[in-house]
Amino acid sequence: MKLILLGAPGAGKGTVAKLLTAIDGSVQISTGDILRGAVQAGTPLGKEAEGYMNRGDLVPDSLIMGIMENRLQEPDCAKGFLLDGFPRTIPQAEALTELLKKLNITLDMVASIDVPRDVIFDRLCTRRTCTNPSCQAIYNTKSNPTKVEGICDKCGSPAIQREDETQEAIAHRLDTYNEKTAPLAGFYEKSGLLKSIVGTSSDVVVDAIKKQLGL
Ligand code: AP5
Repeated sequence: MKLILLGAPGAGKGTVAKLLTAIDGSVQISTGDILRGAVQAGTPLGKEAEGYMNRGDLVPDSLIMGIMENRLQEPDCAKGFLLDGFPRTIPQAEALTELLKKLNITLDMVASIDVPRDVIFDRLCTRRTCTNPSCQAIYNTKSNPTKVEGICDKCGSPAIQREDETQEAIAHRLDTYNEKTAPLAGFYEKSGLLKSIVGTSSDVVVDAIKKQLGL
């Protein structure tokens, strides 16, 4: 599988990516996870990205492209990859097209997950994320709570509410999405790669993607 998952914050990209990678061993590449890892480790990249992320703003395209040029050339990508949270702007999408051409990689599909704004708001306010960079399990205090409050079931690390999950930051992230990322649907529609998937159930979304890919 060589896929892009498009969708607003909280549309379920991360949840769907984890279900799909379990099928054939493709790797999930989440720019959000990479950036949060850098923030946690206190690297120069993390220090530069942290302010943008906490406010719910996008990190500059040049930083993101630097990360992705290296990441897509790592050996595990040969098994296939799911891009989760990238590209997020038209310049990122254009740069990705050039990069894939250079690496001789053809995308199978761009899946756009469409979920209503009120559902998204509720999901993000109740999400909890494992802080262990090699785990990053996702929970939800309503639909999928941890067995022990605040502790990841899988690895025992703290599972917390992200810094960008205040109501103000969520509203700003959704506005930024509408302004900068939603136009990518038109970009990929032109290339014939876009499949829009409407659904609030991750299983339904995964089944729809599998069907489109003939899996
Ligand atoms: P990032 O981490 O990519 O955040 P996001 O796109 O805002 O996506 P989320 O992780 O919030 O949502 P998701 O769609 O993966 O949903 P999830 O499956 O977790 O980016 C964070 C920040 O990094 C950005 O704001 C920006 O600053 C920066 N950044 C990252 N990439 C960038 C780029 N390319 N360019 C510039 N800046 C970049 O699900 C959400 C919740 O819903 C969970 O609680 C989950 O349990 C629940 N849920 C999911 N599906 C269901 C379901 N079917 N039913 C019930 N609950 C569900």
